[in-house]
Amino acid sequence: MKTLTSVLLGGVALMPVAAAAGELNLICSADVVICEKLVSEFEASHSDIDVNMVRLSSGEAYAKVRAEARNPQTDLWWGGTGDPHLQAAQDGLTAEYKSEMLGQLHDWAQGQAETSGYRTVGVYSGALGWGYNTEIFKQKGITPPNCWADLLDPALKGEIQIADPNSSGTAYTTLATLVQIMGEDEAFEFLKKMHANVSQYTKSGSAPVKAAARGETGLGIVFQHDAVAQAVEGFPVAVGSPCEGTGYEIGSMSLIEGGQNEAEAKAFYDWVLTAEVQGMMPEAGSFQIPSNASATPPKEAPDLSTIKLIDYDFAEYGSAERRKQLLARWDKEVGSLPLQ
Ligand code: G6P
Repeated sequence: MKTLTSVLLGGVALMPVAAAAGELNLICSADVVICEKLVSEFEASHSDIDVNMVRLSSGEAYAKVRAEARNPQTDLWWGGTGDPHLQAAQDGLTAEYKSEMLGQLHDWAQGQAETSGYRTVGVYSGALGWGYNTEIFKQKGITPPNCWADLLDPALKGEIQIADPNSSGTAYTTLATLVQIMGEDEAFEFLKKMHANVSQYTKSGSAPVKAAARGETGLGIVFQHDAVAQAVEGFPVAVGSPCEGTGYEIGSMSLIEGGQNEAEAKAFYDWVLTAEVQGMMPEAGSFQIPSNASATPPKEAPDLSTIKLIDYDFAEYGSAERRKQLLARWDKEVGSLPLQ
């Protein structure tokens, strides 16, 4: 917060100086490092706007926006997987906005806007997979998995971490991906069997590969770019892309219906969709594919054209009914199982 800045000159306290006229209450659902970078770059280029940012996983962000529906405390929600943004749009929690930047975006990002009646928009994309610690695998003589099916290997007992799909968009994308690949009943059978290998369901989606990087677990099911980020940091992490095919996210952004700082929120919205700002993401260790068609994808970003992607049905899996139903079933059949 820097609404009031005290100026000290020669040890004498002068009158506080108002540094910012406007405020922006932002929820950021990507990695905290990119969240902080965007806030500081925005404040540097818009010195009249002071940003209050909170980092929340995608499902938690949705829950906060929903809880505040009668009295919104948030103006803008940037980042995180698209499904909860679509659910919020369907619930009328987010506002329709056609930014003048829309025409500069890839079709998949504009498609996200169309699906939601222009109540959300794509800001980046990335494919799901996993990252594993090559040293742990070597030490323990574990064969690296190539396919989702390989994650049931008893050699991986206690070695897998994945987030809880209630809080994490990454884990919900995994759940919805498995349902689309295997069929719903088979996907739940798979998740119940894989539970025997899971040591922890984390709150945030990228935490599992951060744990793998530090040697606390063997493998984390995450977006592939989150595994790349650990390898770029110098950790012994290799990236896995499932042979059966995999889902992907359209990381999204939504303006909150009834937010108190609409002009400031729109200023950030338009600014963050520019090629220049999206091109800054790798500097914060974020290697998603940017939604602005003129932004250069990071050289480290997994190449989506070489990954076997499923035709992820965002309209269905981002719908309120389907997301609620799948999460309730996960709680009942998987989340309730004791950890071994
Ligand atoms: C990481 C990824 C993002 C993704 C986000 C979802 O930060 O880099 O691409 O959108 O996770 O977070 P969550 O905690 O909701 O799984």
